Amino acid sequence: MSEKTSRIPGFYKLGMEERLKKVAEFSNLEKEETECFLKDGKLSLAIDKEIADRMIENVIGIYELPIGIATNFLINGKDYLIPMAIEETSVVAAASNAAKIARVRGGFKAEASDQIMIGQIQLLHIPDIDKAINRILKSREKLLEIANNQDKVLVSLGGGAKDIEIRKIGNGEMLVVHLLVDVKDAMGANAVNTMAEAVAPILEELTGGRARLKIISNLADRRLVRATAVFDKKAVGGEEVVDAFLEGYMFAAMDPYRAATHNKGIMNGIDAVVIATGNDWRAVEAGAHAYAARDGRYRPLTRYWKDEEGNLVGEIELPMAIGVVGGAVSLHRKAQICRKILGVKTAKELAEVLASVGLAQNFAALLALSTVGIQKGHMELHAQNIAVMAGAKGDQIDEIAQRMIKEGKVRLDRAKELLKELYGN
Ligand code: MEV
Repeated sequence: MSEKTSRIPGFYKLGMEERLKKVAEFSNLEKEETECFLKDGKLSLAIDKEIADRMIENVIGIYELPIGIATNFLINGKDYLIPMAIEETSVVAAASNAAKIARVRGGFKAEASDQIMIGQIQLLHIPDIDKAINRILKSREKLLEIANNQDKVLVSLGGGAKDIEIRKIGNGEMLVVHLLVDVKDAMGANAVNTMAEAVAPILEELTGGRARLKIISNLADRRLVRATAVFDKKAVGGEEVVDAFLEGYMFAAMDPYRAATHNKGIMNGIDAVVIATGNDWRAVEAGAHAYAARDGRYRPLTRYWKDEEGNLVGEIELPMAIGVVGGAVSLHRKAQICRKILGVKTAKELAEVLASVGLAQNFAALLALSTVGIQKGHMELHAQNIAVMAGAKGDQIDEIAQRMIKEGKVRLDRAKELLKELYGN
């Protein structure tokens, strides 16, 4: 067990500076690192003009999101503070609450597979498909060697192209070769795409066909992560609540319209951490949804059942194409510091954290939905946002938000009226 704890009661009640101080203590952040978030009470930027201008094209500025810290996470016996970059209210609080309940029974247990990505080479106009397959198989070693010549560093770390698979698609009009590459701690797209392009001319020679696309697959089903947790029945609110939860879950299991929303809630948590750590959230999204539909029907990424004592058990499994090294994001200072806050050393460990956050987020959403409904929890921050939109400042925000909630009228026009009535502005 770890000596430091992510269980920080009242964290949400602290001011921003005090929260940052707690995070700095937990994660041993340097002064310069904390100043990347806040300096002299002001929010600070971590990307300067030159870096931003080099990251993408036609840059005109920087787009900001708040970063919140989810507390209470205990994953494989280690405590984590989880940075989440997201615009949606309640996500950080919901994840922290779910993690608090999961802690009662030991937190999350997570396990990621090897970090294998798939590179696809599409081969067309092959005169004799069976002969082509045979020749590719016989040249397996040579193809792997050519692929591995492209990335000596990856190979020296124990990664690289490990195997080849061949898929016949349609009535033989297409052969697709999969290059299976262990990308270790990188997201892997660059390495895999370079390898796929390098082997394509040899595949053309071997098959007498034409190589068209050479690109990574985002259905990263050789790079899976699974997390489980037992949610104590008492901490959840009793066995009746567990039963209500399971009825709610069944909806997603049986209906793709509901499953899409269910999985969206999972991705609320996962994407927020993927973004905070500077990873490619579109790749993770694509992988998650393709995996959810892998048997031809769109399904939830989580499963739930009751154990023999009546506790709720949850499990999530999905692909996780993320990295902790390389890519354009190594230029992003805040992303690096978020990884330091998390304390993750490897892509495997980050994947395990992400799966746990996804499960926590889904558990929290289903618990709210199957009991009090989702709007109650959303309302507080939503009302505050509306008050800010109406022009409220400082203490006025809470006052106006509380009044609107009490009246059951959380609307911009009412916030404006109250602002006028109470403060004359
Ligand atoms: C909202 O962003 C996410 C939820 O709709 C997820 C769900 O319905 O499970 C609350």
